[in-house]
Amino acid sequence: MLVVQYARFGVPAEVAELVELPEPVAPQAGEALVEVERVAINPGDLLRLEGRYGNNVAALPAFAGAEGVGRVVQIGPGVNRVKPGDRVLLHQYFAKIGTWRERLVMPADSLMAMPEADLSQLAMLSVNPATALLMLTDFVALKPGDWVVQNAANSAVGHWLIKLAATMGLSLINVVRREDAAAELRAGGATHVIIDGPDLPDRIGEITAGKRPRLAIDAIGGEATQRLAASLAEGGTVVNYGLLSGEACRVAAHDTVFRDVTLRGFWLQRWWIASTQGAIDALYAQLSGLVASGALSVPVEAVYPLRRLKDALNHAGRPGRTGKIVMAVKA
Ligand SMILES: NC(=O)c1ccc[n+]([C@@H]2O[C@H](COP(=O)([O-])OP(=O)(O)OC[C@H]3O[C@@H](n4cnc5c(N)ncnc54)[C@H](OP(=O)(O)O)[C@@H]3O)[C@@H](O)[C@H]2O)c1
Repeated sequence: MLVVQYARFGVPAEVAELVELPEPVAPQAGEALVEVERVAINPGDLLRLEGRYGNNVAALPAFAGAEGVGRVVQIGPGVNRVKPGDRVLLHQYFAKIGTWRERLVMPADSLMAMPEADLSQLAMLSVNPATALLMLTDFVALKPGDWVVQNAANSAVGHWLIKLAATMGLSLINVVRREDAAAELRAGGATHVIIDGPDLPDRIGEITAGKRPRLAIDAIGGEATQRLAASLAEGGTVVNYGLLSGEACRVAAHDTVFRDVTLRGFWLQRWWIASTQGAIDALYAQLSGLVASGALSVPVEAVYPLRRLKDALNHAGRPGRTGKIVMAVKA
C-alpha cells in the first residue's frame, strides 16, 4: 500500500515521499482496519515536515498526515463502536501513524462514525472546526451580540469561526492581510472585514462604537498579536493558536499591566488529551451534524490524487489560496 513517509526535515515537497509498504496485518481485538478516502493538508502538516511543529516526531523516518476520513473495512474481535462500512473520522491524535496512506489499523475506541456528507468537508473536520468552536466557547463567556475579533480570517479556521460565530449570534470582526481576500470573504457573506495595519485598534474602536471585544483570536503572532491586544476591552483575552509569522507573540506591558489584557494559547491536541471520550464524541457529533446538514462548509481550492503528493504540497504552501488543498486517497 502507498504511504507518505519522510526521512529528514526540510521543504515539504522535497522531503515527503510516496513509498510502498506491506499491507497492515488484520485487526486484532479492539482494532479496526480503515481504508482512507480523503485527507487534508494543513499548515501543521507542513510544519511537521519542516521539523518546526510543537511535538516533532521522535525518530525518522516518520509518516505524514494528521487528519482525514475513511471507511471501516474490517473489525477485530470485541469491537462494538464501529462496524464494516461505517465512515469514520481520522484524527490528528493518530499523527504518529500518519493518515496520508491507503489503509491503517487503529484502536476502534478512538474512531467516530460520521454521517454521509461531502468527503472533503469531512476530511477537514477533525482539526480546524473543533479548534474554532473551542476557542469561542472555552476562554471568555460570550453572549449573543458580543464582539469578537480574529486575524487570518480567510484561513480555514477563520472560515469556521465566521460560520460558528454567526450560529452563536456573535458579532465577529474579520482581519485579513490583502484586499482580494477581504473581497472573497465579503462575497461569501462575512461582515466587518478589514485589512490589518497599525491603525487596527482605532478601526475596531470605530466599528464597535467603543464597546470593544473581550476576545481576540490570533493565528499570526509577532506584532499582529499586539494589534489585537490593543484592540480589546480592558480585561480582554487574546487566544493565540498559530505561528503563521514565525515570530513570538508580542503584547505590550501597557496592555498586560495597565489594562489587564491576558495572552492565552490553544492547542487542540492538549484539549483532546485532557478530555473524556464523551466530551470528544459530543463535540464531533455537533460539528459533523452541521456539515452533514449543509449548514457549514469551508472552501476547497483543489483536490489532488495522492499520487500527485508533491504538487499538492507545493500548492498547499503557496500564499494567496482561496481554499484548502485536500488529497483523494481512494480514487
Ligand atoms: N492550535 C491548534 O490547535 C491549531 C489547530 C488548527 C490550526 N492551527 C493553526 O491555525 C493556522 C491556520 O490554519 P488553517 O488550516 O486554517 O490555514 P489555511 O487555511 O491553510 O490558511 C492559511 C492562512 O494563513 C495566512 N498566512 C500565511 N502566512 C501568513 C503570515 N506570515 N502572516 C499573516 N497571515 C499569514 C494566509 O493568508 P493569505 O491567504 O493572505 O496567504 C491564510 O489566511 C495555522 O497556523 C495552523 O497551524 C492551530
